[in-house]
Amino acid sequence: MERLGMALVGCGSALPAASVSNDQLSGRVDTTDAWIRSRTGITARRVASAEESLTVLASRAAAAALAHAGWQPEDVDLILLATSSPDDLFGSAPRVQAAIGASRAVAFDLTAACSGFLFALITASQYLASGSMRRALVIGADQLSRWVDWDDRSTCVLFGDGSGAVAVEACPGEANGLLGFKMRSDGSRNSCLTLAQLNQYEPLLEGLTTQRGGFSPIQMNGQEVYKFAVREVPAILAELLEATATDAAQLDWLLLHQANQRILDAVADRFAVPHERVLSNLAHYGNTSAATIPLMLDEAVKDGRVQSGHLLASSGFGAGLSWGGALLRWTGPQA
Ligand code: ACO
Repeated sequence: MERLGMALVGCGSALPAASVSNDQLSGRVDTTDAWIRSRTGITARRVASAEESLTVLASRAAAAALAHAGWQPEDVDLILLATSSPDDLFGSAPRVQAAIGASRAVAFDLTAACSGFLFALITASQYLASGSMRRALVIGADQLSRWVDWDDRSTCVLFGDGSGAVAVEACPGEANGLLGFKMRSDGSRNSCLTLAQLNQYEPLLEGLTTQRGGFSPIQMNGQEVYKFAVREVPAILAELLEATATDAAQLDWLLLHQANQRILDAVADRFAVPHERVLSNLAHYGNTSAATIPLMLDEAVKDGRVQSGHLLASSGFGAGLSWGGALLRWTGPQA
């Protein structure tokens, strides 16, 4: 069967209502607005309330993407929910499927930390390219506020909650919106950034202990993760541009995982992309993990910066360690 392309035809996002400023955080941990701003570019982050579960945020983003694409819920064949913080370890995607009424869709979670959305988008493209599915919703959503140690100033200032979604559909090759991609993992550096099981065991039977479920808060070697990002992201994007015979000057936008403004600036400088063509909203939302890329895309599409036909180089990177790049062409409607 001839392989099809994948067109990006709709997007949506959802954020918790409550915003926590750097100044507010400095009342909780020994930090300052000046330190957080200068080291990261972050000024505030959204934090989910009891009514704004991961499933609620993901469902709102998915419903918005569905409406933006002009689809009916029953048009959707596949829902991929990229998240590292599901409401249910068995998976939260089926609850999103039920919430938006996408009764025909198969729905499952995919976990690859901050690379999750990009990995899920690429995964969806394979189902569409093979012709086995026609329409998919790819969601990136995380609620890391429940997994950070709010007394650890080295991590709690970085993260926020949010959700974004993109509607993608199979299309003829010439309309393809995923022009190339690269994906990488390096588990030998896994300990740089973890949200790992607690080592809690209890006796079950004579000679047999069982582990109790539960996770430690996020632990991160910030300097190692920073070095990883500024080395690997430019390298994978350079490979991607070479593989697709694309010059950086042809890019309309860099759409990078929103972890730290210094990382965004370093990647832009490597490709001589003017900083005004680097999409950034991390000042307001911090690092929302799997949500950053679709959240940023939705904002830039809806405010008219990203227009139909624009070319975007995207990269996700984070725990795993994992990282990836994708060359995308947006062809959905504007606001
Ligand atoms: N406020 C004030 N001081 C702080 C804070 C804070 N919030 N956090 C750390 N410090 C202190 C440290 O204790 C240290 O003090 P010392 O010199 O007295 O020991 C000093 O600041 C410097 O600490 P560094 O860790 O060296 O600071 P650095 O300049 O590296 O910035 C940061 C830290 C912002 C975390 C940076 O390393 C970074 O952005 N790393 C990448 C993080 C990242 O992108 N993570 C997400 C990956 S995505 C995912 O998969 C979830």
